[in-house]
Amino acid sequence: MHEANRMRRLPPYLFTVVDKLKREARERGLDVIDFSMGNPDMDPPEHVTEALREALSEKDVHRYSKFDGEVEKKFRRAIAYWYHERFGVDLDPDHEVLPCLGSKEGIAHLSLAFMNSDDLALVPSPAYPVHFNGVVMAGGILYNIPLKEETGYLPDFFSLPRETTQLSKLLFLSYPHNPTAATCDLAFYEKVVKWSSDKEIIVASDLAYSDFILSGPRAHSILEVKGSRKRCVEFHTFSKSYSMPGWRLGFAVGNREILASLSKTKSYCDFGIFRALQIAGTKALTGPQTYVKKIVGIYKERVDLLVDGMNALGWEVKKPRATFYVWAKIPPKFSALTSMEFTELLIREIGIAVSPGTGFGEYGEGYVRFALVVNEKQIKESLQRIKKLLETSD
Ligand SMILES: Cc1ncc(COP(=O)(O)O)c(C=O)c1O
Repeated sequence: MHEANRMRRLPPYLFTVVDKLKREARERGLDVIDFSMGNPDMDPPEHVTEALREALSEKDVHRYSKFDGEVEKKFRRAIAYWYHERFGVDLDPDHEVLPCLGSKEGIAHLSLAFMNSDDLALVPSPAYPVHFNGVVMAGGILYNIPLKEETGYLPDFFSLPRETTQLSKLLFLSYPHNPTAATCDLAFYEKVVKWSSDKEIIVASDLAYSDFILSGPRAHSILEVKGSRKRCVEFHTFSKSYSMPGWRLGFAVGNREILASLSKTKSYCDFGIFRALQIAGTKALTGPQTYVKKIVGIYKERVDLLVDGMNALGWEVKKPRATFYVWAKIPPKFSALTSMEFTELLIREIGIAVSPGTGFGEYGEGYVRFALVVNEKQIKESLQRIKKLLETSD
């Protein structure tokens, strides 16, 4: 059996590789502490799970979802309401809002909807893997823009060669950023919108972590910028803000023609979102938001505990201002190792699972990512183990 060439170009998915290492360590009796995946460990808001339970007995809820159903209309209106509340952005719920089976699905299908085999996609690196893997899977050409610490992990697309931008069909952005935790301000989005205004390029902003500001000013939506609706779309997810990663609930908003093409592509692949989830999702967006504040506070405490602890042990890491990730440079003592080798060492020697930087693209080399989805006790235990590792390898 020969996989399609475009699939053969993809390496095994990052988390599949790390999962195997975790399994092997557990088989050897290690109690693995798992910082590898951004998979929230807290329970979703009570009123949302209650809404899901109630929705299960509603009439027609188990049937296929349909665009003009009452449940669907309400869900799209809830998304528009949330955007207005959060960012002051007004959206037409019927044309500028498109629910997705999680934002990853929407992002992957965006590439499928738009990339031809001679089109380039500009993807900052490192990035959340579907930004670049989606392009490869769609058969397009990937053009990595390196993100560097010294420039705040913001892409410099102004210095791209003219021929490159002329061939480019898509640009991905995502701030607050996974994996580096970098943030951007509204002025950055203004520059992006201006830069793209005379180009045939779709700007896709992935705003998964807009609620996860640990310190400093709030996150912005690119749609706050005047003129952004001309070629921008933005993706959001319930997975992080409401700890509902397994529900597969997300959405895209923005330019209506782009969303219409995405919707067309999706219509050949899926039948929309389980209606009970849409009812509960509506509750999540329109109900009280105290839950979000509470969990962000907990993530901040975890981040502080880990970062302060690592620094005290001599593993120098910067404190992130957003997300729940710590992007840690491989300590000098281990700098001869690749990020994959260092990840393997951490799991094998001390039972700590992280994500290797290269899982987020070639410019992730030299780093590993900790996702703070483990509790305080486990973080303290991890620091003990890291201490031992740093000491024993002297
Ligand atoms: C930047 C970013 N975008 C999208 C996603 C995927 O979210 P979803 O669960 O909605 O597919 C993640 C998940 O970690 C992410 O980090």
